[in-house]
Amino acid sequence: MSEAGATLPTPESSDHALAAAGCVEEARLWQRLMELATFGATAAGGVNRQALSAEDIDARRLMLRWSGELGLEASTDEIGNLYLRRPGTDAAAAPVMTGSHLDSQPMGGKFNGAYGVLAGLEALQAMTQAGIETRRPVEVVAWTNEEGSRFQPGTMGSCVFTGRMTLPELLPVVDRNGVSVAQALAEVLDAAPELPRRESGFPVAAFVEAHIEQGPILERAGKPVGVVNGVQGLRWFTVEVTGEAAHAGTTPQRLRRDALKAASAMVVAMNEALADENDIVRFTVGRFEVHPGAPSTVPARVLFTIDLRHPELSVIEWLTEKIEAACQANALGCGVSLQRTEDVSPTVFDPAIIEAIGGWADRLGFARETMVSGAGHDAMHMADVCPSGMIFVLCKDGVSHNEGEHAEPADLAAGARVLTATLVDLAQR
Ligand code: HGY
Repeated sequence: MSEAGATLPTPESSDHALAAAGCVEEARLWQRLMELATFGATAAGGVNRQALSAEDIDARRLMLRWSGELGLEASTDEIGNLYLRRPGTDAAAAPVMTGSHLDSQPMGGKFNGAYGVLAGLEALQAMTQAGIETRRPVEVVAWTNEEGSRFQPGTMGSCVFTGRMTLPELLPVVDRNGVSVAQALAEVLDAAPELPRRESGFPVAAFVEAHIEQGPILERAGKPVGVVNGVQGLRWFTVEVTGEAAHAGTTPQRLRRDALKAASAMVVAMNEALADENDIVRFTVGRFEVHPGAPSTVPARVLFTIDLRHPELSVIEWLTEKIEAACQANALGCGVSLQRTEDVSPTVFDPAIIEAIGGWADRLGFARETMVSGAGHDAMHMADVCPSGMIFVLCKDGVSHNEGEHAEPADLAAGARVLTATLVDLAQR
């Protein structure tokens, strides 16, 4: 660990860490999660809170209300990341940071992302309740557009913060309705004109993100807390297949350039080429758009997305070649283009952060499992700029990106206690 130092906690900082963790309130955390979930609530009990949407603005406004009640210093940056800062005794020290995201998938759940932001807020309140002063400031961040469901790619906020992408690259990106990031971001920033601005990319001593696991490992192990040592690699593509619109009744098959027929053949071929008997490869076509989408017109254009993941970069490279070959081999006379829209190599988190999280889970008496994250997170980018790690909590059946996503208050509080103790520890280093 750079600034924070890979030192073990002193007896005093250990007492402070445990005292703050003891002030985490399960009911308060749950109540805030339920209140936040009202923004974008769906009839099936889930959440649809798209990045930079009216619902996202409402959620940010609620965070600012809570921040004000807790006496935190709120600010934002050029991509709309929202920061809530609890001052430390050394104002010049780089902060310890925690947080996640407020945006959701279209058929999302109450906990994905929101839990990491609210567990961070709970940690700050618990520190104050315990009367703890930390040397370093501690900040909660709500990153802009982690999910990437409205605007691709995802993790825009942490990508700008870490310099992986620039704002000018992202502002022209448009959603399905032709609304640009620039337009939507302006509405978000205009909704809180009084909010102080700061340049993103400021020094951070350490970053710890709490998140529901979004997988079945903790539930099967019967353990509430996951100590995450890394994140598998992720690569997104957008594929565009260009054929020719034609009359469905008069155009012979042999004269057609049917974009849907070609795209369908590509997807079937890719699923066959990427079949993995060990079930480690994650290959998903999540969006498939047919144009013009008229019953009596041969499809002229198809656009579909690919989400490819694997723990090893060399395998991702090998599978990328298979994807490209399958698309070209099944073009059926149509044009085909593949655009790589996101590309994150496998992440390894900082050993000192991993040790701190595991040590506090042990001291607090929570059974824990060390694991790699199958899902992508903003922490994978923060690992490029500061010592970073993640805390997982058990979620029911491992279900996420689904309106049925659920986690138990006690498990959510367990993760928040481990997070609180870890943050106090790191903020004293
Ligand atoms: O897609 C992901 O991995 C993250 O949950 N957004």
